Amino acid sequence: MKGTAASIICLFYLVILVDSERYKPTWDSIDSRPLPDWYDKSKIGIFMHWGVFSVPSFSSAWFWEQWKTAKLPAVVDFMKENYRPGFTYADFAAQFTAEFYNPDQWADILAASGAKYVVLVTKHHEGFCNWPSKYSFNWNAGDVGPNRDLVGDLAQSIRNKTDLHFGVYHSLFEFYHPLYLQDAANNYKTQDFVRIKTMPELYELVNRYKPDVVWSDGDWMVNDTYWNATQFLAWLYNDSPVKETVVVNDRWGKNIRCKHGGFLNCNDKFNPGVLQKRKWENCMTIDRKAWEFRRTATFADFLDLKDLTREIATTISCGGNLLVNVGPTPDGRIAPIYEERLRQMGGWLKTNGEAIYESKPWKHQNDTIRTGVWYTSKKTESGLSVYAIVLDWPDNDVLHLGAPSPTSTTVVTMLGYKGKIDWKSGGKQGGITINMPIISINELPSDSAWVFRMDGLNK
Ligand SMILES: *[C@@H]1O[C@H](CO)[C@@H](O)[C@H](O)[C@H]1NC(C)=O
Ligand SMILES: *[C@@H]1O[C@H](CO)[C@@H](O)[C@H](O)[C@H]1NC(C)=O
Ligand SMILES: *[C@@H]1O[C@H](CO)[C@@H](O)[C@H](O)[C@H]1NC(C)=O
Ligand SMILES: *[C@@H]1O[C@H](CO)[C@@H](O)[C@H](O)[C@H]1NC(C)=O
Repeated sequence: MKGTAASIICLFYLVILVDSERYKPTWDSIDSRPLPDWYDKSKIGIFMHWGVFSVPSFSSAWFWEQWKTAKLPAVVDFMKENYRPGFTYADFAAQFTAEFYNPDQWADILAASGAKYVVLVTKHHEGFCNWPSKYSFNWNAGDVGPNRDLVGDLAQSIRNKTDLHFGVYHSLFEFYHPLYLQDAANNYKTQDFVRIKTMPELYELVNRYKPDVVWSDGDWMVNDTYWNATQFLAWLYNDSPVKETVVVNDRWGKNIRCKHGGFLNCNDKFNPGVLQKRKWENCMTIDRKAWEFRRTATFADFLDLKDLTREIATTISCGGNLLVNVGPTPDGRIAPIYEERLRQMGGWLKTNGEAIYESKPWKHQNDTIRTGVWYTSKKTESGLSVYAIVLDWPDNDVLHLGAPSPTSTTVVTMLGYKGKIDWKSGGKQGGITINMPIISINELPSDSAWVFRMDGLNK
């Protein structure tokens, strides 16, 4: 009798113990989960916007909505001038052919970019699923257009050929899904769309492709209770096949963004320029004007390596990750301009990645006197290495920095350059004065953004 009582008590405590380790569907509990550290260490990811919107490839991934609401008259004119009357948005799907889609080649390009994770759009606001979802009958890449599992094929190539983590972007809402429109008409008092569409397909995506990132979007119309967001996240963290490795963002309801979830995206291209309390990510795009492939883009619309290194430096110094977007073509190619930018970034990271990957913010994020110099740091056997990322070559070849305070044992080197760096203490002004190495351009480690490593600084 006593024994039974004892075991019941034991069992009771065991249940409490196990239960306390499980995440509850509340934001307090969801927020308490430590972010798996691969994410912070990775620093750089690639975002890919690909879908039926890639077919008109004209204005934006919002093409359908811009057309139907006539919010963008240019889109209305474009349709009137180029398509027969009665042409529907769904008619574009047949032209989403992806005949040159070679996920092994994509994997090679993504690996060459120096990124450590990829986030593929699996379904944008148009609702088209890039995987053969059983919850999106005939509006998915298996049934129409590519006739292929675009998501699964990239996941497989990424895992087979690279060390990158595979992640998925997923839009909660869909512009014109009839169940969504019905819930909206009911002031979101019904959840038919969430119950029948959004949630089943999210579970399907996670169970089938085991993504390490679930990058949510399309949250802003309704608050998180409509989306059942915490219930999904509790499952993701407790019971899903990726519960140990998965990270999520913050776009889980109009009242949640920039407040709760995993890492914070806040708004697109969020790059605050100052240290943040929580892990965050700057999602931005190489084409300044769009996330999807855009046939009317001009050369000047694309960020160059100098722009990209500025994004890297300002973001990583302040504790963020950088998610760099490319828009593949409807026939499945990464256009050469995107490929070039990715390979250039990879080249820069090959030389300077020591200052980026696995780095931590330093006590100063940017310099106190010279603009365009951003810092990161890393613990080493000998103490702390501080990295100064110099975005612009100083006019007189002399770099005076206010934040670092050198000692007699300070050592200054330039990443990717074997020569000795000539420097002295900044004297009365304080700081440190570095003479930029005057060498031929061929000997310079890069033609944009140079990184000085400083060991043995004052604490
Ligand atoms: C993985 O890659 C190897 C070499 O590139 C290839 O031979 C093999 O078929 C690939 N396996 C899968 C499952 O894609
Ligand atoms: C929301 O989550 C609760 C608790 O798991 C569940 O009972 C309910 O059916 C879910 N609703 C939808 C629309 O998914
Ligand atoms: C979220 O919306 C529901 C109704 O759609 C409402 O009952 C609830 O109070 C809202 N919660 C917040 C935090 O705004
Ligand atoms: C450092 O960054 C802060 C925040 O962006 C800015 O206010 C300040 O002017 C910067 N310092 C220099 C020297 O550029």
